[in-house]
Amino acid sequence: MELYEQLTAQGDKVRSLKTAKADKADVDAAIQLLLKLKVDYKEVTGQDYKAGCPPSGTAVSNDRQSENGAEEDTVDPWNVATNSAKGVDYDKLIVRFGSSKIDQELVDRIEKVSGQKPHRFLRRGIFFSHRDMNQVLDAYEKQKSFYLYTGRGPSSQAMHVGHLIPFVFTKWLQDVFDIPLVIQLTDDEKYLWKDLSLEDCHRFAEENAKDIIACGFDVNKTFIFSDLDYMGSSPEFYRNVVKVQKHVTFNQVKGIFGFSDSDCIGKISFPAIQAAPAFSSSFPQIFKGRKDVQCLIPCAIDQDPYFRMTRDVAPRIGYPKPALLHSTFFPALQGAQTKMSASDANSSIFLTDTPKQIKNKVNKHAFSGGKDTIEEHREQGGNPDIDVAFMYLTFFMEDDEQLEKIRQDYTSGTLLTGELKKMLIETLQPMITAHQENRKNVTDEMVKQFMTPRPLNFNF
Ligand code: TRP
Repeated sequence: MELYEQLTAQGDKVRSLKTAKADKADVDAAIQLLLKLKVDYKEVTGQDYKAGCPPSGTAVSNDRQSENGAEEDTVDPWNVATNSAKGVDYDKLIVRFGSSKIDQELVDRIEKVSGQKPHRFLRRGIFFSHRDMNQVLDAYEKQKSFYLYTGRGPSSQAMHVGHLIPFVFTKWLQDVFDIPLVIQLTDDEKYLWKDLSLEDCHRFAEENAKDIIACGFDVNKTFIFSDLDYMGSSPEFYRNVVKVQKHVTFNQVKGIFGFSDSDCIGKISFPAIQAAPAFSSSFPQIFKGRKDVQCLIPCAIDQDPYFRMTRDVAPRIGYPKPALLHSTFFPALQGAQTKMSASDANSSIFLTDTPKQIKNKVNKHAFSGGKDTIEEHREQGGNPDIDVAFMYLTFFMEDDEQLEKIRQDYTSGTLLTGELKKMLIETLQPMITAHQENRKNVTDEMVKQFMTPRPLNFNF
């Protein structure tokens, strides 16, 4: 209760600072404290803070203490937080979630089966965890096809580079395996969770679709859909939603997602809607009524709760379990303690940023693992493991040798923070400019094509 009151007061403070158009630094500091209090609140009560709703005594506390008493990272679809500057401990997460590590053996196998050099996200452990990927590859080797499913919650018009990670990787998977892809835009989810109108959410879905299409997907192999549109037009999709709804209890979703008695019923039943695209019978126009085509879902690890639930239900309603590939989070410019937020302009590089904004943001806001003075840095070297500019380069620089050399030079002190940041700026600027060019060429007509239910160029 004490935390609840502190949080309410801090929320008021942020609002009054904003209305008073206070100094940006003061507003930022107040927001940081607010966020921290929210994390603390969730830890203590097991509930998300909601203005006007004091903590209810009934919810089970999400136990964030591991057996040896150490603090555990928070990772669920709505919160990502850790106390470590290196970011979330992903190996521990694999144990906690019960998934499997993508080890060198699996990367080698993907290379062998696909006949392509593994994507840098695989080479560098950015996609680090999986469920049943070996089974997908076994089947593929026996000429059994599969399909890809990924998605995005369209909570605003503004997408940042982190949002592209799953799509860049999905595009690669589609190219090397030559398989159908469905992309779910959960405008319904964002309406239920955020203070937005249905119209806004739907509009954001169409805007976000343009950024997704700009990643280079082939319209003959890809179906993008808004839940608000597709749910009402596809009896087969809705039937699968209802099947899932019948086989998951309120107790189960409470346990998986931490819903409480005061969450609206839309939220409580939403997970069934995110589960349905993992079943091929939800898309009869693509799979000709087949219900046994295996699904592979590339996603960030925070989406895993949805698919743990999906995998649990699948055999009970006569469907194969979807396989999964999980990625790490893209760190905020301020450091790897949390993922980026679309609502804080300085926490990320947006797809709409100009070359100048990119330069300023990296120089001003990218958390540095370097030393305070040049002399110290030359003598002791920097720490790439906590350096955000270096982390970003591991996501976007293609050349492994060049990246390794940067790591060594930074660690030894030969390479200074300013020089490292310059390399990142020079990597990001052409990348974002190219994306903007591609997006400009995406017409409303193309969006409509991608979003129209239709057969794709595959024979099932
Ligand atoms: N819930 C996801 C989000 O808020 C969107 C989503 C729906 C998704 N289906 C998915 C993400 C499948 C990854 C894979 O962003």
